[in-house]
Amino acid sequence: MSAASQYVQLSSGYQMPLVGIGTFQVTGKNRIHDVIDEALNVGYHSIDTAAVYRNEEDIGYALSSGLLHKYGLERENIFLTTKLAPSDHGDPRQIRNAVETSLRALGSNYIDLYLIHWPGAARIPENSVDNIKLRSITWQTLVDLKSQGFLRSIGVSNYTVKHLEHLLQDCHGVKPAVNQIECHPHYRQEQLRDFCNKEGIHVQAYSSLGTSNENSLLKDSIVCNIAKEINVSPAQLLLKWALQQGIGIIPKATQKQHIRDNIKLDFDINDDQMKRLSVLPQKKYAWNPDNVV
Ligand SMILES: NC(=O)c1ccc[n+]([C@@H]2O[C@H](COP(=O)([O-])OP(=O)(O)OC[C@H]3O[C@@H](n4cnc5c(N)ncnc54)[C@H](OP(=O)(O)O)[C@@H]3O)[C@@H](O)[C@H]2O)c1
Repeated sequence: MSAASQYVQLSSGYQMPLVGIGTFQVTGKNRIHDVIDEALNVGYHSIDTAAVYRNEEDIGYALSSGLLHKYGLERENIFLTTKLAPSDHGDPRQIRNAVETSLRALGSNYIDLYLIHWPGAARIPENSVDNIKLRSITWQTLVDLKSQGFLRSIGVSNYTVKHLEHLLQDCHGVKPAVNQIECHPHYRQEQLRDFCNKEGIHVQAYSSLGTSNENSLLKDSIVCNIAKEINVSPAQLLLKWALQQGIGIIPKATQKQHIRDNIKLDFDINDDQMKRLSVLPQKKYAWNPDNVV
């Protein structure tokens, strides 16, 4: 089965494609247009963005100004994920404004998946206990916006087990559908993944290729050797590592060949190869939420 046609059933009742295109640091009308054009061309149906990426408007424009039409698609055929900026955390009015701004920018009257981008609020120190209260206010506001139909599924990002435990104590009847976290063979997060699986929270991996700023994951000798054994690229191996375990992926790619390759994941990693990938030394490439109270 093609990676493009694999979906996960979220606890919200909606289905989400397991593969989406990441857009962090992809800005500018033309650049966004070209990336989304190629992504839709080869079968992606899901786009990951965030208020802080400052590209929601360009994504909305690219879709509505011709790309949906070009590929015979409707808004309903695309799964859009965006995220609440840490600067808007904890104030219901600000959160509503942020959601309205994202809706306007994306040119839609609903968002498929809306995530709290970060467990901490930008205006207070990460070790402040007030973060717990602000997260709770934010979640309650998202639950309200979901019940009003603006957000189809709601979730979190960069939440550790501790943050999820706080949320689940008082989640107003709605568990997060998704926790979007850094996850790859150099940062496997097994305890957090087990916790999410137990609670019915889908784990979606970001920085599967080790971010745009680093290439030590793509150059890891074990990763490269196993990729050679299967006759795929190191990037495809890293993406399949997640997908084969039911973890969603949102690789960022701007080069056409990368966009195409990242959805060609029709191969298997055998048990022995999986074992070799599960003992690599651990290293985090993106931000660390561990110290956010
Ligand atoms: N929730 C969060 O806090 C959070 C944090 C980070 C990221 N994210 C999301 O996750 C997405 C992905 O993470 P990321 O942006 O950190 O980077 P990533 O997906 O780990 O890596 C992107 C880099 O890999 C390169 N690449 C892509 N496909 C390749 C291939 N087949 N072979 C070789 N190189 C390849 C890209 O190059 P080219 O551009 O040249 O093609 C780019 O330099 C983001 O764009 C964003 O949507 C979320």
